[in-house]
Amino acid sequence: MSVPVIAFFNNKGGVGKTTMVYHLAWMLADSGVRAIAADLDPQCNLTAAFLDEDRIEEVMAKGERALTVFSAVRDLKRGTGDVKEPHVENIANRLGLIAGDMGLSTFEDQLSENWPKCLDGDERAFRVTSAFYRVVQLAGAKQESDVIVVDLGPNLGAINRAALIASDFVVIPLGPDLFSLQGLENLGPALRRWRKAWKERIKKKPAGADIDLPKGSIQPIGYVLLRHSIRLDRPVKAFERWAARVPGTYAEAVLDTIVDASVSIDTDPACIAKLRDYRSLMPLAQEARKPMFFLKPADGALGSHANAAAQAYKDFKDVARKIAAAAGIPNFE
Ligand SMILES: Nc1ncnc2c1ncn2[C@@H]1O[C@H](COP(=O)(O)OP(=O)(O)O)[C@@H](O)[C@H]1O
Ligand SMILES: [Mg+2]
Repeated sequence: MSVPVIAFFNNKGGVGKTTMVYHLAWMLADSGVRAIAADLDPQCNLTAAFLDEDRIEEVMAKGERALTVFSAVRDLKRGTGDVKEPHVENIANRLGLIAGDMGLSTFEDQLSENWPKCLDGDERAFRVTSAFYRVVQLAGAKQESDVIVVDLGPNLGAINRAALIASDFVVIPLGPDLFSLQGLENLGPALRRWRKAWKERIKKKPAGADIDLPKGSIQPIGYVLLRHSIRLDRPVKAFERWAARVPGTYAEAVLDTIVDASVSIDTDPACIAKLRDYRSLMPLAQEARKPMFFLKPADGALGSHANAAAQAYKDFKDVARKIAAAAGIPNFE
């Protein structure tokens, strides 16, 4: 049995993916779900959100002592072995982290080269292409996890392709702006292309090769609209103008369907949530190295900040519930 994997992906940076994965992982764990967050972005922002600098330095130690996702694929990359079970950093009750690594970017070329070779039935090509899937599944099995949530960098490169074919589900965080819409127009077709290409490749798996391959369903759960990316000096109208175009663009680009022009983000079933701009609560949370919804008066969350933290709890609980239901994740309460 494999553990369900949910990727959070958008090829535009700065929309709030990492913030989303961080808060959702905490919320899922708080709701009774055994969760692992995996940082597959070589920029390692998710790892930096979870761990303090001293621990990051230990985890990202040079060479063999490193405890990152890269350590788990290093032997495969070198050609001296296969993937290893990764270290899962214990963050809290029911919550673990597979730490990211800047070095992961050096794996990108091999992922690129091996992708076409799968079509020749090349065993090593399948091992490389399925590396992330097998690494997160080894961790999930060891931890008896209910779900693995994955943070990715903002591009359509080979690392993200391998991470996405390792995913059962994808959630797309979006900003209500032109660039997010243009991003969707590239991202949607890429997802569909990769899904199809992987299905073709699976058929070429060499007989007798004992490799646990992903199904590559990459089923889109929906999008989360993040308001924080709109500049405060811009009129609300600008937000509404772009937001109105999201349902149609998402349906066409990601689902390859057409929705009625009357569908708005408020009625679109693909819209998981509209997340508010938490403004100064966010830096407070970063400072305290906690999710916004766990901020206490001792962390500086007083008065309106305390109210905002309580609101954030409700908001993320709602998003987590919807995603857990869509992905069939057990134990959510
Ligand atoms: N809902 C939110 N409210 C306020 N600020 C946010 C929110 N989500 C993200 N941010 C801020 O926006 C910036 C980009 O977010 P991040 O999660 O790093 O984006 P990405 O991973 O897509 O590049 C960060 O400074 C983060 O603190
Ligand atoms: Mg990020």
